[in-house]
Amino acid sequence: MKLINIALDGPAAAGKSTIAKRVAEQLSMIYVDTGAMYRAITYKYLKQNKTDDFEALINSTELYLTYDNEKGQRIILDNTDVTDYLRENDVTQNVSYVASKEPVRTFAVKKQKELADNKGIVMDGRDIGTVVLPNAELKVYMIASVEERAQRRQKDNELRGIDSNLEQLKEEIAERDHYDMNREISPLTKADDAVTLDTTGKSIETVTDEILTMVKNI
Ligand code: C5P
Repeated sequence: MKLINIALDGPAAAGKSTIAKRVAEQLSMIYVDTGAMYRAITYKYLKQNKTDDFEALINSTELYLTYDNEKGQRIILDNTDVTDYLRENDVTQNVSYVASKEPVRTFAVKKQKELADNKGIVMDGRDIGTVVLPNAELKVYMIASVEERAQRRQKDNELRGIDSNLEQLKEEIAERDHYDMNREISPLTKADDAVTLDTTGKSIETVTDEILTMVKNI
């Protein structure tokens, strides 16, 4: 098979990372979760008591990705593995704000482009097809109803032993989408040449197979 990059974009909790991991596994490609990079920078922002000097924050930040056979992508921030903290509520509630800042995006996008230089990458995020990998061989824009996305997130939380309220999850998801779609720099939007894939009511296997079929047809 020829070497390709796959860009997977879409709103919060649309199942992008679950599907991207499966597709990458099936095709022996590497999965890159770009949201985790923005989450790691947000984690540091919170540790620094929300100081709004993003230039200084980025200039003092070292961030890289490693891969663990069992746990997958790990995020190393300033020599510490912070991956396990990145799904915490505080991080989720502040990440869209931090990700809207120019120094943060310039820093993250540069790293993401470098990672995809040699191809063989399945990358998920919000601006992958539009900004990070505009020449990706396949671009998919994954969507699902807010109701279903909140239900999926609630199930995820349950598995992690976290109690959550469905109505509150729906509100949080809709709010984050609104912020991501309306920010000035690289807002979440479908690339003109992306295929829209509505995953509402579909199983993980079905969606994975649909993308694998798209790859075969490139
Ligand atoms: O995908 P995930 O929910 O982990 O993304 C967290 C947040 O990071 C998003 O809501 C968005 O604000 C930001 N993000 C982004 N660009 C990306 C990936 C994530 O702005 N490529």
